[in-house]
Amino acid sequence: VLPPLPTDLTRLEGLAERSLSARAFGYVAGSAGTEATARANRAAFDRWRIVPRMLRDVAERDLSVTVLGTPMPSPVLLGPIGVQSIFHPDGELAVARAAAVEGLTMVLSTASSFGIEEVAEANGDGPRWYQLYWPKDRELAVSFLERAKTAGYTALVVTLDTFTLAWRPRDLDQAYLPFLRGIGVANYFGDPVFQKAVGGPVTEANRDMALLHWVANFGNPSLTWDDLIFLREHWDGPIALKGIQHPDDARQAVDAGMDAVIVSNHGGRQVDGAVASLDALPGVVEAVRDQATVLFDSGIRTGADIVKALALGARAVLVGRPYAYGLALGGQAGVQHVLRCLQAELELTMALSGAKRPDELHPEVLLRA
Ligand code: FNR
Repeated sequence: VLPPLPTDLTRLEGLAERSLSARAFGYVAGSAGTEATARANRAAFDRWRIVPRMLRDVAERDLSVTVLGTPMPSPVLLGPIGVQSIFHPDGELAVARAAAVEGLTMVLSTASSFGIEEVAEANGDGPRWYQLYWPKDRELAVSFLERAKTAGYTALVVTLDTFTLAWRPRDLDQAYLPFLRGIGVANYFGDPVFQKAVGGPVTEANRDMALLHWVANFGNPSLTWDDLIFLREHWDGPIALKGIQHPDDARQAVDAGMDAVIVSNHGGRQVDGAVASLDALPGVVEAVRDQATVLFDSGIRTGADIVKALALGARAVLVGRPYAYGLALGGQAGVQHVLRCLQAELELTMALSGAKRPDELHPEVLLRA
């Protein structure tokens, strides 16, 4: 039984604010700086309007797609979100169960509050991808990749835009960073390579040292395009680069043999004043043509938003905050509510606009307002 959550998912944020601690809410709702990028992400959707077409026999609809070898009932994925136990005690485990029931692909963050293996178990036969925050220590990176592969994660998402956390006033003002409270470090503390570096399993005795080691290792600002060769050597499945905004970066991803790019600005959480992710999408699509898969995130709140992103060339979209709010408000059932609403609204909006399948959506479906 699903909790009585609103079907207008834009209302979830206000409800989550009432149910979460001020710090947890600030962490999820907050963005970088003045939050201009987060606002721009939403405003960009409003500037595109759908132009519905009539009399096109849309009785039989099929939303399914295959992305990076993963069959999906609809072009919707659960984007990587770290530290989910600050929203609900079951965190990523509840999300993994919800995703499995809906048959949708979950992308697990390196910064998850439960370990790679534990989440895989909760996810069961559900499709799952792994998101890498590429740590400085290469041996640790390889360990993460091997663990993910062994635990049945089939594609790798490498997040490039967050080698360090941005200037986020809501967190700064509340002196809040979940990681320093030991939340979101499970994959590090439980890793054999990490443990070797801190002199054994993490206990009370070496915990502070382990946290400092985490801080020093979380991201690597020195990485360049040449380093992708290293990833290719250690991951034999498909790789998607997350955080691409510039057409030239998208081209470089193709040249580096990457399978996909994810047009994303991390939901506005990294560069304040950055281009709206939806505005960056057409240029990236044009740049990669058919040479790589283009996925999209940042600002998706409704099924109509998904129609617009697909029409502008995304093969599928990743949803962020909406399912985190669902988790906060209703645990597994809350996440399922969000996923069902998004897919149902997507299907209805497509059909009422004259499209039976995602591949019938093209830029001509839209008008620039
Ligand atoms: C994120 N995001 C993120 N991305 C990633 O690659 N690894 C991560 O661990 C996280 N963690 C994370 C935590 C929280 C609280 C949020 C809100 C976001 C970014 C996420 O994958 C996605 O890019 C954005 O959330 C998309 O924007 P919307 O849908 O939230 O507007």
